[in-house]
Amino acid sequence: MFLKHLSLTNFRAFSRLDLDIPREILLLVGENAQGKTTLLESVYFLSTFTSFHASSDRQLINFNLPENQLTVGRIVGEFERENSTHRIEVRLIREPNGGNGNTRFRKEVLLDGVKRKINEVIGQFNAVIFLPQMARIVEEGPSERRRYLDMLIAQVSPRYVQHLSDYGGTLSQRNALLKLLSERHGDLQELAVWDGMLARHGAFLMLERIKVIRELEEEAKRIHFDLTHGQEVLRLDYQPAFEPLAIPQGQMMLPVNSVADRSGLTLEEIEKGMLAAFKKLQREEIARGVTTIGPHRDEMRFLSNQVDLGEFGSRGQGRTALLAMKLAEVNWLKKRTGEWPVLLLDETLSELDTQRREDLLAGLREVDQAILTSTDIEMFDPGFVEAHKVWHVGGGVVDTIFQDERP
Ligand SMILES: Nc1ncnc2c1ncn2[C@@H]1O[C@H](COP(=O)(O)OP(=O)(O)OP(=O)(O)O)[C@@H](O)[C@H]1O
Ligand SMILES: [Mg+2]
Repeated sequence: MFLKHLSLTNFRAFSRLDLDIPREILLLVGENAQGKTTLLESVYFLSTFTSFHASSDRQLINFNLPENQLTVGRIVGEFERENSTHRIEVRLIREPNGGNGNTRFRKEVLLDGVKRKINEVIGQFNAVIFLPQMARIVEEGPSERRRYLDMLIAQVSPRYVQHLSDYGGTLSQRNALLKLLSERHGDLQELAVWDGMLARHGAFLMLERIKVIRELEEEAKRIHFDLTHGQEVLRLDYQPAFEPLAIPQGQMMLPVNSVADRSGLTLEEIEKGMLAAFKKLQREEIARGVTTIGPHRDEMRFLSNQVDLGEFGSRGQGRTALLAMKLAEVNWLKKRTGEWPVLLLDETLSELDTQRREDLLAGLREVDQAILTSTDIEMFDPGFVEAHKVWHVGGGVVDTIFQDERP
């Protein structure tokens, strides 16, 4: 799969941009604050319809435009998949709401010119993105890892997106009721309804995560083993807040740092187990006024040679694990969808030592299209630069003849 054309309107600092994108490796070079990351962000947006680093989609609209009038930020991507061309358009619409300076925001997505729901379009265009700040996935709290996993699975499973959204809605409702019950209001019978719904959506999310983590691990382990020249073995450990595996009596916990195999579990088993757990925890959850188990509390850890990288890994080890994960994502998406995702690498090379840089660039040969950014073209081997397109990004403008102008 590859992107043929990208057009942006009022997207962050780009008021207007129209670019034909080649089906190859493309280097975007430019000083700081020129729009390199923004370009990758816009391409990635076409795959998940959410930004990896804006806390709200509103932030994506050019902030120089007046708030008191209708403004549309737009990303249009034309791409080729299975030898046919499709077009995704995202509209980020901000409009005045009432006369008191408030604004309303909404997002519209069109596939081949027809307005669709997001989960009908998700998965049409696949991309893998690697940003320096993604080290957070390994280093920081569990919510980063859940988000990472959810965004990845969303690209291949519209059903997952639906369950995720239903789970989130049900969870809010259930928490609101638990809060009421803790204050001695509310109807206890109603809780059983939310329990049932939460267990149904929750079981789906858990089972999907269990499967995907296993598949990703298989890819990542191999890549990581090569990247570390056989020195380290990477494992992904899913640690659900609710353990669906039956734990034999007397064995309260698994041995430290071993990875449990939950691949044999069925949806029904998880759902039933979760319902039973809700019953058991009812008193405690009412007292606390929140839902204490379920996929929103689950954890995923990266282990290298059985050491938890989040807690004990060096910075370089974290980076290497993440690089292995990203390359694993590429292979995994290809296996799942039959198409290579577009690979987006932001300032990735500057983070890596020479050997890993070479390994990464070698890995790019397979994909249909990769877009790399850098402030420094020297980062790339001259032979590599010679062989690929180099574009210059400056002040919201992309200069595609940069390469020819080089002395
Ligand atoms: N909503 C917005 N409206 C207008 N400009 C914005 C908006 N959001 C961000 N910008 C600006 O866009 C510019 C480009 O940001 P971007 O992160 O794409 O730069 P970059 O080329 O990746 O820089 P660096 O090399 O520092 O990573 C920044 O100056 C930023 O302030
Ligand atoms: Mg940047």
